[in-house]
Amino acid sequence: MKLTAEQIQSNWEIFLNNIKTHIPGNRGEQLLNFYKRYEERIILMPAAHKKEYHSAFPGGYVDHVNRVVRCALKQYELWKEEGADVSTFTLEELVFSAINHDLGKMGDKDHEAYIPQTDQWRKDKLGEDYMFNKKLAFCSVPDRGLFLLQQHDITYSFNEMVAIQTHDGLYDAANEKYLKAFMPEQKPRTSLPYILHQADMMAARIEFEIEWLPKFSKDNVEQPKKNYTLQSKTSSKSKALNTIASSGLKNMLDSL
Ligand SMILES: [Fe+2]
Repeated sequence: MKLTAEQIQSNWEIFLNNIKTHIPGNRGEQLLNFYKRYEERIILMPAAHKKEYHSAFPGGYVDHVNRVVRCALKQYELWKEEGADVSTFTLEELVFSAINHDLGKMGDKDHEAYIPQTDQWRKDKLGEDYMFNKKLAFCSVPDRGLFLLQQHDITYSFNEMVAIQTHDGLYDAANEKYLKAFMPEQKPRTSLPYILHQADMMAARIEFEIEWLPKFSKDNVEQPKKNYTLQSKTSSKSKALNTIASSGLKNMLDSL
C-alpha cells in the first residue's frame, strides 16, 4: 500500500491532535515535544520492515497508531457497555498507551530501527523495502518504547506500563506472566491491557486485509502453469522463513 504525501501529512496532524486532545498538562506538552523532536523520523516510518507484516510502507507507523487509537476508543465503549469496570483506568491512560504502544519500533534516540534495504535481491525477490538496523542492540519493542519515554522524562502510570508491555497479548510468550495467571489476585486489575491488545490486533488485521486480500482475488492470483519446473531454492527458503514463529529466529535466519 502507498500513502500519498497528503495522507501522510494528514495522519501526522491526527496523531498530534490525539495527544493535544487526550493527554493534558505538562505530560502532554512533553509528549508533543518528544514527537516533534523526532518528527522527521516518525512521520515516514513503516510499522514493520517486512512486507508480510502489517503497514511496511512509508507512513505506515503513524497510520497504524492512529487506527489503534480509534479502535481502542471504540473497544472502550464496547467493554463499558458490556459491564467492564472502566473506572479502573482513565481514558487518558487508554489513549496514552495506544499512542505509545509501538514506540519501540522507532529504534533508539540515535539509530532508526528500520533502514532502507540495501540488498537488491531481497528487495526484488522478497519485496523487502526495509531491513533491521544492526547498529541497534536487541531490545523488545515494548521495553524499548518504555525506555525511550523515561529517557525523555515522560512519566507513565502503572496501568500504562502494563498495557504497553503486554499489548501483543499472548502472541508474545513474555506476557504469560501477566495474562496467564490463574490466581485471581495475580490477574490484571483493569481491562486496559485487553482493550489495547484487541485494538492493536483489530488494526493489524484490517491493515492486512487492505494490503493483501486484493492480491488474492481471482483476477490477481496466478493460475497454475501446465508445465512445471523445479522450484528455485530461493522460493523454498522464503517459504520456510515464513513458517517460523519466533521473530528473533527469523531475523537471525534472514542475515544468513
Ligand atoms: Fe501495533
